[in-house]
Amino acid sequence: MNVKKLNQIYEGKAKKVFATDNPDFYIVEYKDDATAFNGLKHGTIAGKGVINNKMSNMMFMLLEKNGVRTHFVEQINDRETIVKAVKIVPLEIIIRNVAAGSFSKRYGVEEGTELKAPTLEFSLKNDALNDPLINNSHIIALGVATEKELSDIQAMAFKVNEVLKGFFASIGVKLIDFKIEAGRLPNGDIILADEISPDTCRFWDAETNEKLDKDRFRRDLGGVEEAYQEIFRRINSK
Ligand code: TMP
Repeated sequence: MNVKKLNQIYEGKAKKVFATDNPDFYIVEYKDDATAFNGLKHGTIAGKGVINNKMSNMMFMLLEKNGVRTHFVEQINDRETIVKAVKIVPLEIIIRNVAAGSFSKRYGVEEGTELKAPTLEFSLKNDALNDPLINNSHIIALGVATEKELSDIQAMAFKVNEVLKGFFASIGVKLIDFKIEAGRLPNGDIILADEISPDTCRFWDAETNEKLDKDRFRRDLGGVEEAYQEIFRRINSK
């Protein structure tokens, strides 16, 4: 597809988004920058942008094959991808299979505890408020999403979990939890947007429980670049 990159319309912590000469499409550019704790911790993970770009695109293609609509259109180069222009619903949509991170802390459950069923929670994307947890009735009352959108988002999130859990199991990786974002197309349809990468998922080695994700950066565990490379290597070995 031939689109021309125009002005930058957004810069996030890990990506930039550019307008193109076609209003239906954006170009995203993945950076090596990493932040944690709502931007309090800053760093660089060498090569992360390239891995996250390619890996996200592979995950979106896998999800599309399994009936999940995504914003993915076409990879342009190592760091840049053409995506459908959507308006992001300002929610972090979080699915968990195993207790970890803020869930473990909030409920006093040991990290690694298998949950009896996958859980879904939402945070409002608002840096100034530190992305507070938000429930379904608050989402509707505040007009963040409609009831129909919320029900589409929930169905999509659980479907993404089923597809990804199976895929990662096949490469010896436990999908502990992950965060996705949803976007609205001009016609109002909800599709999967943002990224799926070690920045936004917890991946543990199925045998050793070694962390293969951004927790290595968040928690100063070392071997950050190697963890991203290892996940990418396993995906490509399939
Ligand atoms: P949490 O346990 O810190 O709430 O994180 C749950 C999942 O969401 C984990 O896979 C990391 C991901 N995540 C993001 O992608 N962005 C964020 O800003 C946060 C806090 C978590």
